[in-house]
Amino acid sequence: MSFYPAGQFPAHRPRRLRQSPALRQLVRETQLNTRQLVLPLFARSGRRLRRPIAAMPGVFQLSTDELLREAARAHESGVPAVILFGIPDRKDARASGAYAARGVVQQAVRLLKRELPELLVITDVCMCEYTSHGHCGIVRNGDVDNDATLELLAKEALSHARAGADMVAPSDMMDGRIGYIRQALDQNGYAGLPIMSYAAKYASAFYGPFREAAESTPQFGDRRSYQMDPANRREAMREVALDVEEGADIVMVKPALAYLDIIAEVKQVFDLPVAAYNVSGEYAMVKAAADRGWIDGDRVMLEMLTAMRRAGADLIVTYFAKDAAKLLQK
Ligand code: PBG
Repeated sequence: MSFYPAGQFPAHRPRRLRQSPALRQLVRETQLNTRQLVLPLFARSGRRLRRPIAAMPGVFQLSTDELLREAARAHESGVPAVILFGIPDRKDARASGAYAARGVVQQAVRLLKRELPELLVITDVCMCEYTSHGHCGIVRNGDVDNDATLELLAKEALSHARAGADMVAPSDMMDGRIGYIRQALDQNGYAGLPIMSYAAKYASAFYGPFREAAESTPQFGDRRSYQMDPANRREAMREVALDVEEGADIVMVKPALAYLDIIAEVKQVFDLPVAAYNVSGEYAMVKAAADRGWIDGDRVMLEMLTAMRRAGADLIVTYFAKDAAKLLQK
């Protein structure tokens, strides 16, 4: 018995176009390219320092001299951009290290722009690495004070701009911060400096390893009063709409892997470039399973990054940038 009438083969045979690598490549819908990747780097003071992050094999806290070497290697392999996070020597309630003219990120920016002028240097704008309590802003009465924090975020963004950053990326999730930072930049001669907003940033357990890397674990409570509830999709559209209205140039969805639906919808609804942040926990899971021989780490990595592109991400912030660049060059 056959589904098809005798002698009649199916008219549709999708397998025809899967017969060889060349054919598959010819009809591939999504391209993953090193040119779309941004490598996060963690800066701290000192010299010749490479402090490994236990849950993120291949990722280190780096003194600026080592950070320059790491950035240069990534740039040589085709990665066009880095995003910088800083671990200050001292933390305090007002996050002074975040906007110090000679802060660790500011120094790293100056060094990178002097030595590798063509590498795009993006800076993460947030308080959590710099506050003694680990929250993303000024704490009052046990919660982060939104409007008091805006002032410091603007100071931080401005100090990154003065150091020579090519783009600032606020990741704090305070209300109104994109407009506030935009205005501060414009009034100080940086009207041309783009803002990549962490627009839909969820309160996620996938950030665990990052907090070890950035030493930014909150000392009390959690970030649920400012980062989004993972259950919400419509709210993400609202958050993105607000940031677009306030002047964001690129909007980001974070995390990426468990939020591909959000990436897809943001891409469909808005006409700005969309970034995805392939976060620390997503990286750690792949590395751990690959280390045990349970998965093929390289293939899983490329499949994940391709899925983010397929969902609609124009660019991807990823700790895999260098590993992926190596494979994509072949
Ligand atoms: C700072 C910030 C975080 C990440 C990027 N910027 C941590 C957080 O919000 O707790 C997470 C990145 C990652 O997990 O890779 N606010």
